Amino acid sequence: MQEWRRHMIGLAALVLLAAAPRALADAAADAPPPGAAADPSGDPAAVGDTDGAYTDRAGNPTFRIAPDGTVDWYTGVGYTQYTANCMQCHGPDGLGSTFAPSLVGALQVLDHAAFVDTVTNGKQNVSASQELVMPAFGRNPNVMCYLDAIYVYLRARADGAVERGPPQKVAPRPPGYSATVDACMG
Ligand code: HEC
Repeated sequence: MQEWRRHMIGLAALVLLAAAPRALADAAADAPPPGAAADPSGDPAAVGDTDGAYTDRAGNPTFRIAPDGTVDWYTGVGYTQYTANCMQCHGPDGLGSTFAPSLVGALQVLDHAAFVDTVTNGKQNVSASQELVMPAFGRNPNVMCYLDAIYVYLRARADGAVERGPPQKVAPRPPGYSATVDACMG
């Protein structure tokens, strides 16, 4: 083989090697493929159903996606309520912003109990170089009455089960949904 050709092949291999980890990192920055990252709340498979609100084997709220891509009602509500209450800081689709971290990333680390604790009681990280304040929503029914819905939406995003943007197909509203929300709102 001519010297210049060997050189070109070597260069091409180097470019490929350099590009591969980058492509993997880009993929990880958005939703990871299902099953890629361990869900800290455990297996998200839905085993329980209370009027369209699903729970996993450990009793945590979870999402349910039909084979045709239809998401459960609460995951759809979660998208709407996330967008209304959290997006201004945490960015569209849970992906983070300059103000607040990605919640798609956070839910690869936080389990359901830690999520509820943080949203209820808030969190602060204030130092000379930064001032990050997560408000406490514990007294805000507009958030607390939808907390499980917001959680299952973000859990589905973190698990790579739901794409960016509004879910295209959402299961019908469960018969008792309005009464449940009214009772919570008081
Ligand atoms: C006013 C801006 C703001 C709003 C609105 C807001 N957050 Fe936050 N949130 C933050 C900031 C800033 C942090 C990082 C705090 C820190 O690092 O101490 C944070 C942190 C969090 C964390 C912890 C992330 C981690 O890795 O530990 C969770 C969970 C969270 N927010 C959920 C929510 C949810 C759910 C909503 C909507 C109901 C919401 N936030 C609305 C600013 C906000």
